[in-house]
Amino acid sequence: MFETLEMAPADAILGLTEAFNNDPNPKKINLGVGVYKDSQDRTPILDSVKQAEQRMAASETSKSYLPIPGAPAYGRAVRELLFGLGPARDAANNAITAHTPGGTGALRVAADFIQTRLPGARIWVSQPTWANHPNVFTAAGLEVMRYPYYDAEGKRLDFEAMIAALEQVPSSDVVLFHGCCHNPSGMDPTPEQWQVIAGVAAERGFLPFIDFAYQGLGDGLEEDAIGLRTFCRPGGELLIASSFSKNFGLYNERVGALTLVAGTQDAAEKAFSHVKTVIRANYSNPPTHGASIVTTILNDPDLRPLWESELAAMRNRINGMRRLFVETLKAKGVQRDFSFLTTQRGMFSFSGLDKRQVDTLRDKYAIYIVASGRINVAGMTPNNMDYLCEAIADVL
Ligand code: LMR
Repeated sequence: MFETLEMAPADAILGLTEAFNNDPNPKKINLGVGVYKDSQDRTPILDSVKQAEQRMAASETSKSYLPIPGAPAYGRAVRELLFGLGPARDAANNAITAHTPGGTGALRVAADFIQTRLPGARIWVSQPTWANHPNVFTAAGLEVMRYPYYDAEGKRLDFEAMIAALEQVPSSDVVLFHGCCHNPSGMDPTPEQWQVIAGVAAERGFLPFIDFAYQGLGDGLEEDAIGLRTFCRPGGELLIASSFSKNFGLYNERVGALTLVAGTQDAAEKAFSHVKTVIRANYSNPPTHGASIVTTILNDPDLRPLWESELAAMRNRINGMRRLFVETLKAKGVQRDFSFLTTQRGMFSFSGLDKRQVDTLRDKYAIYIVASGRINVAGMTPNNMDYLCEAIADVL
């Protein structure tokens, strides 16, 4: 049976890492996958994580199964991060959380739930969006629709076109938003624009679904949750996919969550019972380790501030690299204006480099960038900046 199969295409993002790993060039730089590098070009384990793991190793007594949605303490900790202590906190009363293997696991569980339990629902994603969103949703059988988002020419959010499209979305559909640090553009709505978006969602009656993978890497834990919290209103429904890959550096632990918010506790319980059946048929129940780390850190009076300071250091380094990149390009004689990069947030930006330039950077300089021109700013360091900017000056 296998003899008839042709090679599947390499993944747009993770396929680049495979090629990067095989590249012998000692100067190679991977600005493809969204993985944070420190100034020494390492992806470190956070101190808060190491300390939590030491405590866990000392106190763990069993490796028995978790419940289908994971440990209740993890769900509570996730909801506290999502909704905070302000007015949005009320949403947590009608919210239930499932611990999922990574943010992608949350997206897939939600996609299966939508496809099988909300008949006829289609899902709308921003144009552009994370390359894996359409993969996940179509794999679940969902029809994927697109709404305008980023104006590549003007390097801005095309807010008017976005709102005009959302005003046409039927109440039976689901609309995916990036809670902060839009992937791939790095361009987020302002708090005022979020108000308008949430207003349209309420008016139209479609289901907002927030992909929230970068909390704390934009402007701060609270600041980055403003968009998400704008959707929290009495009686409102919401799905939220969380990831702790980036803000806890727990990439390979695959720790994420799907939170379902309903209009009432009763509706939440009924809807969530279906989420549980989807999980049971998918991976049965989640792995413990990553979620225990997150729960331990968030609930500990010493580890939590340590983690917040480590997260702030990552955020500040990324924003520092944005500035240094723009300055260094200028210093290398690049005429094109890249200052828009400093107004974008999170790990990613659209560089504006085209496919041919991206190919030349890879083939001539061993610099790996996603074909769309998306660059992972968190992969830049003071050490690789000169080489990177000289190469970009050359291809431009
Ligand atoms: C990315 O966009 O690079 C990350 O979210 C990693 C991934 O799985 O694609």
